[in-house]
Amino acid sequence: MPNKTENEYLIKALKAFKRKVVIISPDFKIISINTDPDLILKHDVTGRLCYQALYDRTSHCDNCPALKVMETKQPAMVDRINTPNQGKVLCLYSYPILSGDNIDALVIFDFDFPSIEGLEVKLKRSNAFLRNLILSSVDAVLASDMNGKILIFNDAAAEISGYDVEEALNNINIRDIYPGDGAREIMKKLRSNEHGGKGKLKSYIVDVKGKNGDNIPISLNAAIVYEEEREVATIGFFHDMRETFKMKKELENAQIQILQSEKMASLGKLAAGVAHQLNNPLSSITLFTQLVLEEYKLEEGARNDLMRIYKESQRCRDTVKELLEFARQTRQEMRPHDINSAILRTLFLLENQTLFHNIEIEKELSSSLPEIFGDIQQLNHLFMNVILNAADAMEGKGTLSIKSYRPPQSNSIIIEISDTGPGIPQNVLPHIFEPFFTTKEEGKGTGLGLSLVYSIIDNHKGKIYAKSRAGKGTTFFIELPAANPDNGDTAIE
Ligand SMILES: Nc1ncnc2c1ncn2[C@@H]1O[C@H](COP(=O)(O)OP(=O)(O)OP(=O)(O)O)[C@@H](O)[C@H]1O
Ligand SMILES: [Mg+2]
Repeated sequence: MPNKTENEYLIKALKAFKRKVVIISPDFKIISINTDPDLILKHDVTGRLCYQALYDRTSHCDNCPALKVMETKQPAMVDRINTPNQGKVLCLYSYPILSGDNIDALVIFDFDFPSIEGLEVKLKRSNAFLRNLILSSVDAVLASDMNGKILIFNDAAAEISGYDVEEALNNINIRDIYPGDGAREIMKKLRSNEHGGKGKLKSYIVDVKGKNGDNIPISLNAAIVYEEEREVATIGFFHDMRETFKMKKELENAQIQILQSEKMASLGKLAAGVAHQLNNPLSSITLFTQLVLEEYKLEEGARNDLMRIYKESQRCRDTVKELLEFARQTRQEMRPHDINSAILRTLFLLENQTLFHNIEIEKELSSSLPEIFGDIQQLNHLFMNVILNAADAMEGKGTLSIKSYRPPQSNSIIIEISDTGPGIPQNVLPHIFEPFFTTKEEGKGTGLGLSLVYSIIDNHKGKIYAKSRAGKGTTFFIELPAANPDNGDTAIE
C-alpha cells in the first residue's frame, strides 16, 4: 500500500495532468475529475451523470469507451475519427478499477496519441493513394499470396482477362491466369538471378489465359514481395501486347509488299532496258528485209525464207513492245484502262513460254466492258501472278480459261481465271493470300505472289476470292469497279 506522501503525490500528479481524467462509477456517476484547464466546468460535477454533466446528454454517448470496458473488463480505446467532438473534450480511453471480478470504477482519459493518430491518418491516406494508383493503372496489376490467392486485381486486369474483379478475388487462383504450367515457370524465373535480379522478372513476353480460353500475349514485369527474407506475395504488371503485335504484323506485311513491288520494279527496269536495246536492231532487220524483198527479184524459195524472217522479226518487235508496255513505269499512275488489253498482253508474253506449250487457253472476253481506273503495271502483275499460279498448278498441261464480263446492273466487271489443275484443299484455301504461304517446294515459290495480288486488288477497291474443289480445278474471281459507272464519273482515287 502506498504511504500518505505517495498518495498525496499521486493525487497531485493526476491534478497536474494536462488531459482530462474522469473517474466514474459503473452507473456513469462522476466520482472524481481532475482540473483540466481547458475543461471549464462551472459547477462541481462530482456525483452527477458524466454524459449529463460533460455533454448535456440524456443518455450515455454512443461511442463511450467505458461501455466497452464494462462489456470486456479490459481497457478500451475508441476511434477519435468516429467520435463526435460535441464541442467538448473527448472520452477516448478507459480502463477498469477492479475489485475481484467486479468493476468498482472506471477511469476515462481524453487520451490523445498525437503521433499514432497522425501516423494512422497518414497511413490511411497513403494506403488510399496507393490503392487508387493501382486501380487506375493502364496496365493490369495482379498480386497474389504464396498460395496463389489473388489479393489485388485492378480494372485493367479485368479487361485483359475477362474475369470481373470480384470473381478474380474470390473464385480463381493465379495459376488459372496462365496456360499450362505458366505460373510455376514464372516463379522459377523470379527466383533465379537471370531475369533482372533475384525476385524480379523484366519485360517477359508470355501468354495469359482469358476467361474464354483465349491466350493473350502480354509483357510481364513481376516481383516477389519479401518480408524479412520471407516470400509473402508476388506482384505482376501486365502490358497487353495484342495491339503492338498486330501493328508489327501489319508493318511486316507492308514491308513484304514494298520488297515485292521493288523486286518487280527492278525486274521491269531490266526488261525495259533489254527491250530498248533490242528495239533498234529489230527495226533494222525488218526494214532491211522489207527493202531486199522489194528491190530484188528473188526466187520463190528465197522470197519465202525472207518473208519468214520478216514475220518473225515483226513478232519479236511486238514482244518487245509489250514488254516495254509491261514494264513501262515504276511510279503508281491511276488512269482508265481497258482490262482486256492488260489480260491479252500478259497472255501474249506468257503463251510462248515452255510452261504454256501444252496448255490450251480459252478466252471469252466481253467486248463491251467499261474501262477500269487503275495502275496498268499493277494490273499486269496481278494477271501475271494468277495465270502463272494456274499454269504451275496444272504442271504445264490442261486448260486455262479466262472470262471477262460485266454482270447485269452492276458497276463492276468480273474476271474469272480458271484452271483444270488439282484444286486447292479446303484447309489450304483460307491461307493462300497470306504472305509467305506456299505449298511449293523450296526454291520454287516464295508465297508472295497472291499476297501482292491481294494488295493490288485492295488498292483498286476490288475483291478477289477463289473457289476450288480438290481434283476439280480452281477459279479465281476478280471484281474491279468500273471507272465510269452508268451515270456520271465516280472514278476511284
Ligand atoms: N490455281 C491454283 N491451283 C492450286 N493451288 C494454287 C493456285 N493458286 C495458288 N495456289 C496455292 O496458293 C499458294 C500461294 O500462292 P502464291 O502465288 O502466293 O505463292 P506461290 O505461287 O507458292 O509462290 P510465288 O508466287 O511467290 O512464287 C500456292 O503455293 C498454292 O498452294
Ligand atoms: Mg504464285
